Amino acid sequence: MNYLDSFSDSQIFPAGTGDPIVMEAVDICKSFSEGGGNQLEVLKNINLTVKAGEKIAIVGASGSGKSTLLHLLGGLDSPTSGQVFVDEKDLVRMSEKERCRVRNNYLGFVYQFHHLLAEFSAQENVAMPALVRGISPSQALNKAAMLLDKVGMTQRLLHKPSELSGGERQRAAIARAVINEPRCICADEPTGNLDKATAEQVVQVMLRLNKEFGTSLIVVTHDMEFAKKMDTIYAIENGQLKAI
Ligand SMILES: Nc1ncnc2c1ncn2[C@@H]1O[C@H](COP(=O)(O)OP(=O)(O)OP(=O)(O)O)[C@@H](O)[C@H]1O
Ligand SMILES: [Mg+2]
Repeated sequence: MNYLDSFSDSQIFPAGTGDPIVMEAVDICKSFSEGGGNQLEVLKNINLTVKAGEKIAIVGASGSGKSTLLHLLGGLDSPTSGQVFVDEKDLVRMSEKERCRVRNNYLGFVYQFHHLLAEFSAQENVAMPALVRGISPSQALNKAAMLLDKVGMTQRLLHKPSELSGGERQRAAIARAVINEPRCICADEPTGNLDKATAEQVVQVMLRLNKEFGTSLIVVTHDMEFAKKMDTIYAIENGQLKAI
């Protein structure tokens, strides 16, 4: 069974929801404590709805809160107040165990720096989230090989991260993010450290995943060319999210 076969329509478009929502942030605020008892209010009452198959770009100045927002949406951090619904459940109120399960099953995360594990091959790195989910090693490795093939890395399965180029590492990180067939990929500047041609390859891989599998994309980027390929561009300014 390949990714496409196993990603049934009923999963992408749950029965009974005419307008399927993959993720919804409701009134989220995030403050960090600064020295001297001060609070730095980074995000103020943010609302965001992500539909199945929707492509969203988030832009904004350095320090405006883009990574903070992505971490909240991906359940990697908790908001000071507000709710983040994934699969109609509030990530904020879940136990850590349940949050890990939802993250592992519904969301894929691509970090600005790939975070591949140095001692494992590309194939093993990609297989890792599937192994964590309890899929057998042989199935997980087969699926990892198939996904690496899809991102143009058939010849690189056994290479360790240090033996891959920057673009290859990022493509492996994307393959890893999708192995559990997430409904949404959150990507933090996935092309930030790449030259133009390599960045374009990474953009094309992400757009193809969106088109072939209906995976929603939330991409933080400084690259307006990339942002313009999304359905909606939001800018964070003064802690608020505005569609531009
Ligand atoms: N754990 C933390 N503790 C305190 N302040 C933080 C923490 N994480 C982020 N900040 C602050 O929150 C603000 C937003 O940070 P964030 O990383 O979200 O910015 P960004 O928009 O992703 O910037 P960049 O484009 O440079 O990656 C910054 O001023 C940052 O210093
Ligand atoms: Mg950032």
